[in-house]
Amino acid sequence: MCGIIGAIGRGEDTLDTLVHGLSKLEYRGYDSAGVALTGDGERIEIRKTAGEIDDLRAALETNRPSGRAGVGHTRWSTHGPPTDENAHPHADCTGEVAVVHNGIIENYQSLRDELVTAGHTFHSDTDTEVVPHLIESALADGADPESAFRAAMERIEGSYAIAAVFAGGDAVYCAREDSPLVLGVDDGATYLASDVPAFREFTDRVIYLDDGEVARIDDDGWAVTTLASEPVEKAVHTVEWDAEETGKSGYDHYMLKEIHEQPRALRQCLRGRVDELGGTVELDELDAPPRPTAVQFVACGTSYHAALYGAQLFQDAGIPAQAFLASEYVTSPPPAGDALVVGVTQSGETADTLSALREAKGRGARTLALTNVVGSTVSRECDRVIYIRAGPEIGVAASKTFASQLAALNLFALATANGGDREALGALRDLPSEVQAVIDDSTAAEVAEHYLDAEGYFFIGRGLNYPVALEGALKLKEITYRHAEGFAAGELKHGPLALVTRNTPVIAIATGDDELARKTVGNVKEVEARNAPVIAVTDGQSDIERYADHVLPIPGTHPRTAAVLANVQLQLFAYHTAAQLGRSIDKPRNLAKSVTVE
Ligand code: AGP
Ligand code: GLU
Repeated sequence: MCGIIGAIGRGEDTLDTLVHGLSKLEYRGYDSAGVALTGDGERIEIRKTAGEIDDLRAALETNRPSGRAGVGHTRWSTHGPPTDENAHPHADCTGEVAVVHNGIIENYQSLRDELVTAGHTFHSDTDTEVVPHLIESALADGADPESAFRAAMERIEGSYAIAAVFAGGDAVYCAREDSPLVLGVDDGATYLASDVPAFREFTDRVIYLDDGEVARIDDDGWAVTTLASEPVEKAVHTVEWDAEETGKSGYDHYMLKEIHEQPRALRQCLRGRVDELGGTVELDELDAPPRPTAVQFVACGTSYHAALYGAQLFQDAGIPAQAFLASEYVTSPPPAGDALVVGVTQSGETADTLSALREAKGRGARTLALTNVVGSTVSRECDRVIYIRAGPEIGVAASKTFASQLAALNLFALATANGGDREALGALRDLPSEVQAVIDDSTAAEVAEHYLDAEGYFFIGRGLNYPVALEGALKLKEITYRHAEGFAAGELKHGPLALVTRNTPVIAIATGDDELARKTVGNVKEVEARNAPVIAVTDGQSDIERYADHVLPIPGTHPRTAAVLANVQLQLFAYHTAAQLGRSIDKPRNLAKSVTVE
């Protein structure tokens, strides 16, 4: 999910080119880094380390690898914690090939079992390491490097950008499936990378690879083929922007980039975990645990909103569930019987959440972590972990990780209830493309502009849209510094209505056409009668639009996924309000990405 760079043709400079490229990819976030060069012919030369690129630079000072061609990698762990051993590149048993990979290889366990049985020795916990061993097997069967690389690509399933170099070799090979890869073409040198900034300083001529394509770069330039070796004609584009403008992939802020990354993050979260035909969810992490008698969620901030949503899903499945603010958990009733306590935490390092989970353990409960960060404290301390696989999130305000938390909570609830809900599974399958459609068509920027002088903002929703209302308000507060509150729509009349005026827009989320939506429309009429402007976030199934000044539409779908889609509109509303107010969106004042004090 992070960065890849490859280069040939820069002579003595290849190593420096790779390290420079990695530093240009740092903005993508990572936890380890490494490089491999082709060496003198006998063995590939690999240097890698957990930590930052500066740590890698320090290691290279005393021990520089050499070679005409090479690859580099920044890792965001998905399989195995961020350790030196798990850092990329990974080699085969003979040290003849080195491989870097972004993404997830879904069938790695069966491949690894097969390779171990055939006598291969593994040195890491990663899914990636099967690739160099598959290449080694093909080489041992007489294949040349390029055919061996293709043979390995044919065996793997999942999402990947992969690049490989061979000891003493004169080429770099790469392939992609659902993970970005781009070639850079210069006179006498050729590059490959997951994003243009990695080599923009050297060339502005680029070739974007598509899924299912394999490329070879060598002294003669480049060649792109299909997996089945058919040549592919590719256009060479000229990038317009210069080296200074790189980073954030052209977005003004990480938060906007991360909002746009949600379709992909959701696909990663769902990939290989849903069997729609069989109507089941496969979460390898759960190891078929006994169905808990009750579930208690503990979390803070945005993750607490995800926990409120998760608790409703478990309730729907007939399993009593409650969400607690982690910092208040000590005052809660002890978990009864065979209860499971679930810590929802993007970073896996939030002190309040860790402390609540320790409290739960002390009370004898089983614990499970739902987190984004492999190897985080929560993943080490809990009995079980479900990874949300959102990829690194740099913006302090959580965006894509919230969407992925909601998707993972759906998987978790369905797996615990033994699947069976085909409608929900179908809705999850369609979710990434629907999120894309909402992002593409959103008019949140224009709507936000109307309300820049508002005195305050109220967000209301019911059922699964209630946590989304809370999240919409939190997002707006965090990045605009404006006063915003989220309420259960029915609560407005019990007090907050006193604050509602023509200068306090009410953002109302009403999806579907059920009792909850109808009652929310009733609450909207109450605020409309007090002259407050109404922004409706709706799938058009209720008649809320009749009472709204502005509408932020979402596609009609299942109530579970409607909440995720509505939230995308609220993210964009908060983002564009903050952007038009000129706020420090990625680093709001007084806030930290990971809050490690209680
Ligand atoms: C979200 O935008 C906030 N930055 C904050 O509320 C955050 O969700 C909270 O601190 C919990 O963090 P965690 O998910 O890493 O545990
Ligand atoms: N799945 C691989 C790993 O955990 C690659 C992660 C990445 O995309 O950086 O090592």
